[in-house]
Amino acid sequence: MSATIVVGTQWGDEGKAKVIDYLSENIDIIARYQGGANAGHTVKVGDETYIFHLIPSGILYPNTMCVIGNGVVLDPVAFEEEIEGLKKRGIDAIGRIRVSDACHIVLPVHRTIDSLREASAGGNKIGTTKRGIGICYADKTMRVGLRVGDLYGKLEERLKHILEMKNRELTEIYGEPAMEFQPLFDSLKAFAERIKPCVMNTSLYLNRELEAGKTVLLEGAQGTALDIDFGTYPYVTSSNTTTGGAISGSGISFQHINEVYGICKAYVTRVGEGPFPTELHGDEGEHLRKLGGEFGATTGRPRRCGWFDVELLRHAARVNGLTGLVLTKLDVLSDYETLPLGHAYRRDGKTLDAFPACGLDEIEVEYENMPGWNSDISGARSWNDLPENCKKYVEAIGKWTGVPVKFISVGPGRDQTIVL
Ligand code: GDP
Ligand code: IMO
Ligand code: MG
Repeated sequence: MSATIVVGTQWGDEGKAKVIDYLSENIDIIARYQGGANAGHTVKVGDETYIFHLIPSGILYPNTMCVIGNGVVLDPVAFEEEIEGLKKRGIDAIGRIRVSDACHIVLPVHRTIDSLREASAGGNKIGTTKRGIGICYADKTMRVGLRVGDLYGKLEERLKHILEMKNRELTEIYGEPAMEFQPLFDSLKAFAERIKPCVMNTSLYLNRELEAGKTVLLEGAQGTALDIDFGTYPYVTSSNTTTGGAISGSGISFQHINEVYGICKAYVTRVGEGPFPTELHGDEGEHLRKLGGEFGATTGRPRRCGWFDVELLRHAARVNGLTGLVLTKLDVLSDYETLPLGHAYRRDGKTLDAFPACGLDEIEVEYENMPGWNSDISGARSWNDLPENCKKYVEAIGKWTGVPVKFISVGPGRDQTIVL
């Protein structure tokens, strides 16, 4: 039993990559299991900042192996750009990456349709990253997707069938020109040759390595509230971001899992459309956004900000089977006199017993006002370095959710981490 899952417990951007990079020092293999280049995972090492979209955040340690699991949707252009970017910074990633032959490929037409759909949806738009993620997963489910393994099989036949369908959508629904077969076929063929040494049955690889005593970390993208089943549908991403997705998207046996860490920011953010019960509006939201530097790592969009939401975290604890919490960006709250903790939801005068599947925009939140600590904690390195009111805030989160806080992050740097 030596696999650890890391999941986001909110609407993404919880600081997962900082935590994954921190944990990776003692891990042999890091695997992404869902999502695609919609993710923006930031790692800071000294003065250097790296933003990963598809490549696992553990790649910075020279001896870790990285896996792109079957549940990921792989965009060849984004993937190769990232590999090139790392190469320019002296990191040879490609030799340490394994790509599942069952991964679905994001085609340029998926990106185009994602943008066209958003542009024509008016008030019903999702606010996607326009990376073609939802369209690619929809094609996977419709059984008209293209997989990495297909690049080495009857690619011509398969691609012709897929393009014919996609082009009908492009021309008949959106009035756009059709996409040409030959340039796409040629570029996919060339890509297939370049990544051939990396392609394999990654489920077999991961299970064999685990059985041989290696350690594996499964890197979640997005967060629980963006999960296709457990999130704020339809304002979600198109994959299972939760623990179930880690199993189906990597193909490792659940018997290997011994920890599931839920990453939660000390407040909450969200990019894109959709309900957000503890959201702060106007100047208050702007103030928190500024303090936390809350701008998207993939699209640069300003993130919506709000108070901590315990009901959402309880939901995340339940559906993920969390064994521990990692509280990040606690340093960002150093400025406040009072910190409201949203701990229960009410609708029509009644307290709800759980995070609801529908009607989240009609929720009233009950808050407990916690006293702030009004001092800089970014230099804290142990529990005892934290001010009393800060400890009370952390303890309240643990108490309200019933899951122990195991790490606290007080800055983006590797050393700005407190182990409890
Ligand atoms: P992810 O998508 O969950 O990996 O998170 P992002 O990388 O999109 O966003 C988190 C941002 O917060 C990044 O800019 C990190 O460098 C930064 N960060 C992570 N942990 C901390 C922390 O404890 N304190 C502060 N101030 N910044 C942090
Ligand atoms: P990381 O891994 C925050 C959001 C988008 C949009 C919705 C659907 O960095 O936490 P999509 O492009 O996936 O179809 O968009 O999901 N979204 C994210 N929000 N962090 C992310 O990833 C996200 N990936 C997608 O903003 O609301
Ligand atoms: Mg992010």
